Amino acid sequence: MHPLRRKVSLFNTYTAAMKHRKNNNVSVFIVVVSVFLFGFFMYNEDVKSIAEFPFSRPKVRVDGTLLEARVIELPVKEVAEVEEVEDDEEIELPPEECDLYDGSWVYDDSTHPLYKEDQCEFLTAQVTCMRNGRRDSMYQNWRWQPKGCNLPKFKAKLLLEKLRNKRLMFVGDSLNRNQWESMVCLAQSIIPPGRKSLNKTGSLSIFRIEDYNATVEFYWAPFLVESNSDDPTMHSILNRIIMPGSIKKHGKHWKNVDYLVFNTYIWWMNTFTMKVLRGSFDKGATEYDEIERPVAYARVLRTWSRWVDKNIDPNRTTVFFSSMSPLHIKSLDWENPDGIKCAKETSPILNTSMPLNVGTDWRLFTVATDVIQKMKLPVHFLNITSLSEYRKDAHTSVYTIRQGKMLTDEQKADPNTYADCIHWCLPGLPDAWNEFLYTRIISRS
Ligand SMILES: *[C@@H]1O[C@H](CO)[C@@H](O)[C@H](O)[C@H]1NC(C)=O
Ligand SMILES: *[C@@H]1O[C@H](CO)[C@@H](O)[C@H](O)[C@H]1NC(C)=O
Ligand SMILES: *[C@@H]1O[C@H](CO)[C@@H](O)[C@H](O)[C@H]1NC(C)=O
Ligand SMILES: *[C@@H]1O[C@H](CO)[C@@H](O)[C@H](O)[C@H]1NC(C)=O
Ligand SMILES: *[C@@H]1O[C@H](CO)[C@@H](O)[C@H](O)[C@H]1NC(C)=O
Repeated sequence: MHPLRRKVSLFNTYTAAMKHRKNNNVSVFIVVVSVFLFGFFMYNEDVKSIAEFPFSRPKVRVDGTLLEARVIELPVKEVAEVEEVEDDEEIELPPEECDLYDGSWVYDDSTHPLYKEDQCEFLTAQVTCMRNGRRDSMYQNWRWQPKGCNLPKFKAKLLLEKLRNKRLMFVGDSLNRNQWESMVCLAQSIIPPGRKSLNKTGSLSIFRIEDYNATVEFYWAPFLVESNSDDPTMHSILNRIIMPGSIKKHGKHWKNVDYLVFNTYIWWMNTFTMKVLRGSFDKGATEYDEIERPVAYARVLRTWSRWVDKNIDPNRTTVFFSSMSPLHIKSLDWENPDGIKCAKETSPILNTSMPLNVGTDWRLFTVATDVIQKMKLPVHFLNITSLSEYRKDAHTSVYTIRQGKMLTDEQKADPNTYADCIHWCLPGLPDAWNEFLYTRIISRS
């Protein structure tokens, strides 16, 4: 029925025995299905289509706000048993030619969030929206459903097997850090306390998982190239100046990594032009030229692409580039005259026939795809921009910190000034970005 579907097992042994097992899948499934409703729910297409119906059977309070909607409730014990049964089960991989980024958001609180906010000690106060006072939680329950195939079920163990003796590194700005925090949480869930650690030193943060000799790292370089904004904690520089041809200083930290995930966007967005240094910071240069944003962006990405082509061994390293993470600053962009930026939004934009313009600079998207296309080394483009534009509900808004401090109640009451409609709550949207990354990582090797 699905001849193009590929399968991967935890042990990568697609042997005759496995093939035999595959033939018996139907009967195995029937047993699993009838005993464990949970397993049934995950794999049966008909039932899934019920789950795909947004807001199925929500409980509505008198004041109209939605309580957490549960499609199927199960005692904790049974879920745990299912996990055991499923542990060494094969995972279905989407066919290579399926466009994972073309799809829709589906409300699915039986599988999402993939982890709990209070069960990931590594989350920073910037992203723990519930702990910071957010009351609606449905933003955690949306799953991305590609049109032509399914994303593989997330399994921390499978991911960690693939990361054994390897390094995964995110390089870029605070949105990539947002995604890194998500990946740390996804990876750490099955690791007991004391067998995992986080070390933040300067521009590099390293999350280490002892038993797998694996690391999930983040390197701060908001423009990828050298700039006057490279200090990982001091971010108050308004006069941002870049050196578009200079990348080695950062690049030396990206060598001998197995999975590299790059991005750069948000720091480009506060001015229409970019200031480009004449000369070098090291030699005391201070004069600069002002260059159109897409022109400077192209120069930076060409520098980056040359560095990748020259320094990355494709036999060892897989390279990803994330497209822009969108902002939701004007609620009229999604036709909500009563909104205040993203602050009052509790559900995604679900009407996908509505033409959407939330102010994304798509010129930079085109620059990125053009540069990547011309590269020698294959770079996997994480095409997250469009699908994230629908997620006006998923930002940290006022449930976050500002300059290192939690917003006060007065500040929270003034979202016009204080809502952060750039970064995202965790668990939340960046988990979906990591599901794409996960799919790619488990599909290879
Ligand atoms: C990115 O994904 C969107 C749909 O989410 C699609 O319309 C667009 O063509 C994709 N672009 C690239 C370069 O893959
Ligand atoms: C541990 O991981 C590092 C970095 O990926 C690798 O260089 C090293 O060989 C690994 N150690 C062992 C004992 O495999
Ligand atoms: C963190 O890493 C730095 C640099 O590698 C090292 O000097 C420091 O000892 C580490 N800290 C801990 C607590 O492991
Ligand atoms: C990668 O591996 C292939 C086959 O083993 C080899 O021919 C090629 O030279 C290698 N490429 C690099 C850049 O090492
Ligand atoms: C979706 O958006 C389109 C275009 O703005 C509009 O014509 C249509 O009525 C909307 N559909 C729903 C269900 O709101």
